[in-house]
Amino acid sequence: MALERTLSIIKPDAVAKNVIGEIESRFEKAGLSIVAMKMVHLSQEKAEGFYAEHKERPFFKDLVDFMTSGPVVVQVLEGENAILANRDLMGATNPKEATAGTIRADFADSIDANAVHGSDSAESAAREVSYFFADDEICPRA
Ligand code: TYD
Ligand code: MG
Repeated sequence: MALERTLSIIKPDAVAKNVIGEIESRFEKAGLSIVAMKMVHLSQEKAEGFYAEHKERPFFKDLVDFMTSGPVVVQVLEGENAILANRDLMGATNPKEATAGTIRADFADSIDANAVHGSDSAESAAREVSYFFADDEICPRA
């Protein structure tokens, strides 16, 4: 087991559905601690930079348009195996394929409006956490 940090985003569709608290509660009930948090309306540049790995994909423009369509809540989750634990809580990218009881199965409508983002590896977690938060904006609890 390893104590990890991961970046989580509650996307515009879930913010619009007023389920921020329900989603945060799932993280806490799973033993993950919220150690940094903010609500922001992403600029096009910020969203494009965040998803740079996908810039050649056909869905890139729609993804950036969606992520800038309304406010998001960005948080750093800390806990044992936080990266995989968060991905398990999220469920599959396509909510139609997501396991029952996962965040995407319960709150997402489609593959493009899929409620949450979570870092997928230690490398992306390190990049994504520092993309949104300075060291002094993170308050370790463990
Ligand atoms: P990806 O990193 O593959 O998924 P995940 O969010 O589960 O890590 O893709 C990033 C986002 O891009 C995904 O959450 C929604 C969007 N997307 C689409 O709109 N269509 C697609 O076919 C894929 C693969 C992703
Ligand atoms: Mg991904």
